[in-house]
Amino acid sequence: MEQEKVIVIDFGGQYNQLVARRVRECNVYCEIYSYKTDIEKIKEMNPKGIILTGGPNSCYEPDSPTYTKELFELGIPVLGLCYGAQLMMHVLGGKVEKAPVREYGKTEVFVKKDSPLFQGVSENTICWMSHFDYISKTAPDFEICAHTADCPVAAAENREKNLYAIQFHPEVLHTVEGTKMLYNFVRGVCGCAGTWRMDSFVENAIADVRAKVGDGKVLLALSGGVDSSVLAALLAKAIGPQLTCVFVDHGLLRKNEGDEVESVFGKDGDFDINFIRVNAQERYYAKLAGVTEPEQKRKIIGEEFIRVFEEEAKKIGAVDFLAQGTIYPDVVESGLGGESAVIKSHHNVGGLPDFVDFKDIVEPLRNLFKDEVRKAGLELGLPDYLVYRQPFPGPGLGIRIIGEVTAEKVRIVQDADYIYREEIAKAGLDKGIGQYFAALTNMRSVGVMGDERTYDYAVALRAVNTVDFMTAEAADIPFEVLQTVMSRIINEVKGVNRVFYDLTSKPPGTIEFE
Ligand code: XMP
Repeated sequence: MEQEKVIVIDFGGQYNQLVARRVRECNVYCEIYSYKTDIEKIKEMNPKGIILTGGPNSCYEPDSPTYTKELFELGIPVLGLCYGAQLMMHVLGGKVEKAPVREYGKTEVFVKKDSPLFQGVSENTICWMSHFDYISKTAPDFEICAHTADCPVAAAENREKNLYAIQFHPEVLHTVEGTKMLYNFVRGVCGCAGTWRMDSFVENAIADVRAKVGDGKVLLALSGGVDSSVLAALLAKAIGPQLTCVFVDHGLLRKNEGDEVESVFGKDGDFDINFIRVNAQERYYAKLAGVTEPEQKRKIIGEEFIRVFEEEAKKIGAVDFLAQGTIYPDVVESGLGGESAVIKSHHNVGGLPDFVDFKDIVEPLRNLFKDEVRKAGLELGLPDYLVYRQPFPGPGLGIRIIGEVTAEKVRIVQDADYIYREEIAKAGLDKGIGQYFAALTNMRSVGVMGDERTYDYAVALRAVNTVDFMTAEAADIPFEVLQTVMSRIINEVKGVNRVFYDLTSKPPGTIEFE
């Protein structure tokens, strides 16, 4: 069945992925394309609607991103947001200029309730503004359907042609009724039925994998993270014993993590697949002995993974497919989708291991956002602790132990981290904090326990709130919780006599320690 689709045309705005996610929350499938995408390609895709994103430029400058007028003449509904709204006006004959008053932040907006965009929206509602240009004159045949104290055209519409322009950002949560506005556009104006659901995704993805793989053999490097676990579960349902998962335990995982992964995917788990656990702890510790420089540690951990995986792949021999846990943000950030692109090339998208003898790759999660991957995981019957697992870096505890990594230090940080996670969950904070973990500083200091002098390690607790992991603030954890964690760590983890809480935001800090 052809999936109905809305496309987002990206003009370099910081919220482009958010727009697409919000549309998908309305059960409408949505993809992001660069403004450089040819109109013919867009016509071929035959979308039910088009959304133009914000962007950092001024649309009246000669070199600014633009789009051909034809886009607005296809008969497909178009919604312009911020830069997208200004561009729509500019291209269709309105006027955009530098605003006398720059609007930034939460702003009261007055909407015309009879506009199809604002059905069910309060007459005065709060929206998120961020612009220095403004629409001083709407294009011919457009009517103003919202304004603010400083902005005469906060929204404009040409109902007959289904063209809508919104100066503010309905996609960010600060716009209190923004989701309703996007819903009104995609479900109302565009007439989408709302058929994008995770249960049907899972069903279709299983059918697609079966069709592609046939009776071929598939190899997957399973890390135990959310994406690779959901991928393994999906492939297991689709092709069962044709799948081989190689799980490398590098000895830098969180406490019990290796066993948890094995209990789900191993021979006593629910899936009928080939599961190979490689216990490579000693190899890693040997390679890391005496190494203190963070980049060198990362490099060793990465290279050793390739070596271990290569050895296993050789034992398995040729396979037909290599499975990859690429997800949609990886695709967009690698520049294959949107415009704000070229920021980084993603390991999942960029390089494929050249030592595995395979013919093709399978990437069934390629079109999903992270929250959708999680929903698919729940559909597939994975346990909550796997599905809601926090982000965990590839080099694992190796970058949460400052300085040299040893088995003893790994034990300390694993035990301290376990206690920290347990207490955070007990306090009901586990779903509210972006990322939290214990790290081991390389510092030892003098303390006193009982009547004895101690000279032991200091553990650092980290907890951050973050939207995009590019910036972060230290989380405000209640002092009693921190105190309980501190006293349990010092009492229960041998080798620790001091606990710090890291208050540093990012920037200037990073979330991890190395
Ligand atoms: P930083 O420390 O850069 O972390 O502020 C930002 C986010 O990225 C995760 N992180 C990594 N993830 N491989 C990964 O897969 C890595 O080498 C790596 N380094 C950091 C980190 O946990 C945080 O969520």
